Amino acid sequence: MEKCALVLGLINVKGGVGKTTISSNISHILSVAGYKVLHIDLDPQGSSSELLKAQSKSGNQLSKDDIMNLDTFKLLSQPVSIQDYIFETRYENLHIIPNARGVESTYTLGTFDTRIAMLNYPNKYLAFYQNINQIRNQYDYIIIDGQPGMNEMMKVSIIASDYVVSPAAPDLYNLHTVDDTCNVIDLCNRDYGRDTEYLGFFLNNIPDLKDSAYLSVRDFYKESAKEYFIDNPIRFSKAINKSSLNNFLWLEYAMDYCISFPNPCKDLLRLIDKELGLFKEKKAVLLEKGIKEIYFD
Ligand SMILES: Nc1ncnc2c1ncn2[C@@H]1O[C@H](COP(=O)(O)OP(=O)(O)O)[C@@H](O)[C@H]1O
Ligand SMILES: [Mg+2]
Repeated sequence: MEKCALVLGLINVKGGVGKTTISSNISHILSVAGYKVLHIDLDPQGSSSELLKAQSKSGNQLSKDDIMNLDTFKLLSQPVSIQDYIFETRYENLHIIPNARGVESTYTLGTFDTRIAMLNYPNKYLAFYQNINQIRNQYDYIIIDGQPGMNEMMKVSIIASDYVVSPAAPDLYNLHTVDDTCNVIDLCNRDYGRDTEYLGFFLNNIPDLKDSAYLSVRDFYKESAKEYFIDNPIRFSKAINKSSLNNFLWLEYAMDYCISFPNPCKDLLRLIDKELGLFKEKKAVLLEKGIKEIYFD
């Protein structure tokens, strides 16, 4: 049966909330489950390209030059052959459109906004969506690691996404993010004929699920953010946050080192399964691979 990828954008106007970490881990977990996944790294730090170990056809780590040669601005604003932007990763079933530090000078700091404003191409805001449509039949899931900021790139990413979800910091300042994201999505749907849906936000980096400060933040959002609050916290893991372990994918960390799965991994598996509903028939594959021990315990 021909595939028709679902495009999920991890988007939050705020930085440092876990977009890169969580989108990369979602892409990896779905690929381990047996889905064909394309991860699109729009974060100008290129961290998910490092984390997922983007590689060239010959199997070498992708160099910054390889990535710099890709015209990311064009991919996001004009028709291109998107196949030319897709690379393998060290992982089976997982492809990537990479990014790298330094590429950002061509399209951030206002320049993406300026360049797209000046671009004389009528369908420029739909181009990324249309470029992605070329390869929807090759993947089950396309995951976008969004770039922070309320800017034109956010618009382009939203238009390209079928669903948007936001990781958020466990503080009381997320209602504005919800408002802003909903407004942009509504405008994009209206102006570009899309039907992108906002799934809402979940809290990341929770040190202790029983902590009273966390519980009051949770109760506040249950009451105020209503259907946009996804009550599936992702715990903070000190072990993961230590710099030497920062470069591990959460599933790999436990599978390769035969140690217990980190809490954030269990929480993310639950989110993907119960809240986002992405495992579908492939849940059985994860169970066979021993993921049962950690998630269904
Ligand atoms: N649940 C977590 N436990 C521990 N560290 C985390 C967790 N989520 C994110 N981090 C760390 O927080 C930092 C910022 O996360 P990142 O994914 O880069 O955010 P963003 O992409 O939104 O800017 C990174 O160092 C990452 O490893
Ligand atoms: Mg990021």
